[in-house]
Amino acid sequence: MQHDLFAQVDAYIEALFVPQDAVFERALQRAEAAALPQIQVSAAQGKLLHMLALLCGARAILEVGTLGGYSTIWLARALPPDGSLISLELEPHHAQVAAANIADAGFVDYVDIRVGAALATLQSMRAANAGPFDLIFIDADKSSYVDYLYAALDLSRPGTLIIADNVVRKGEVVNDTSQDEAVRAVQHFNQELAELQRNGRVTCTVLQTIGAKGHDGMALAVVRA
Ligand code: SAH
Ligand code: DHB
Ligand code: MG
Repeated sequence: MQHDLFAQVDAYIEALFVPQDAVFERALQRAEAAALPQIQVSAAQGKLLHMLALLCGARAILEVGTLGGYSTIWLARALPPDGSLISLELEPHHAQVAAANIADAGFVDYVDIRVGAALATLQSMRAANAGPFDLIFIDADKSSYVDYLYAALDLSRPGTLIIADNVVRKGEVVNDTSQDEAVRAVQHFNQELAELQRNGRVTCTVLQTIGAKGHDGMALAVVRA
């Protein structure tokens, strides 16, 4: 099957470029033991996030959707000694698992998990003049992606990299008559990004991803103005 091949090639890539790492292994084990949904980014995608953070020299990172902190650790590992990461999570149980994983990874002094509905937290961050962030990773409920995008822009500066996970959804994103709420939400999100690009606010593309998590994609947007 095609998915099998995707997963095999991901395993091949991981064997070459993502060394076995006890911190990530324990993080995944803790998440599984706590019955968290297993929807974290793949190892190869985590490595990509890490490299994108290195490429932007990110000192201040914002993540929307922590889950067990797996992507958080990949991103935090790219931070310089004076860097910091804020991650927003609705579910206290997820945040608790993430906190244990982040402590295990040695990032308690770098990572701040804020529990609550991300839209409300983002609102209070804006009110407190937080940011600008160098990299913002959007990966929470798809129905709020457009709102997260505008909140992210408010917390950005020219050059900020905004990344959004899950914007292809097994290719369903090209199905104009999809009734799936998440698909419709990411279609709307991609349209908004295109409009922002037309207006010169961002420049974007979508990277299709295949691998252990099947077929999906990440939107990459650089803030221009
Ligand atoms: N970034 C993680 C995966 C995140 S999964 C990783 O790759 O490791 C999506 C997370 O978003 C879940 O933990 C879910 O509880 C959280 N979430 C859902 N709705 C939310 C909301 N309104 N505000 C904040 N987090 C939310
Ligand atoms: C789902 C959410 C994600 O963030 C993801 O990467 C994969 C699946 C989901 O809600 O189904
Ligand atoms: Mg995701």
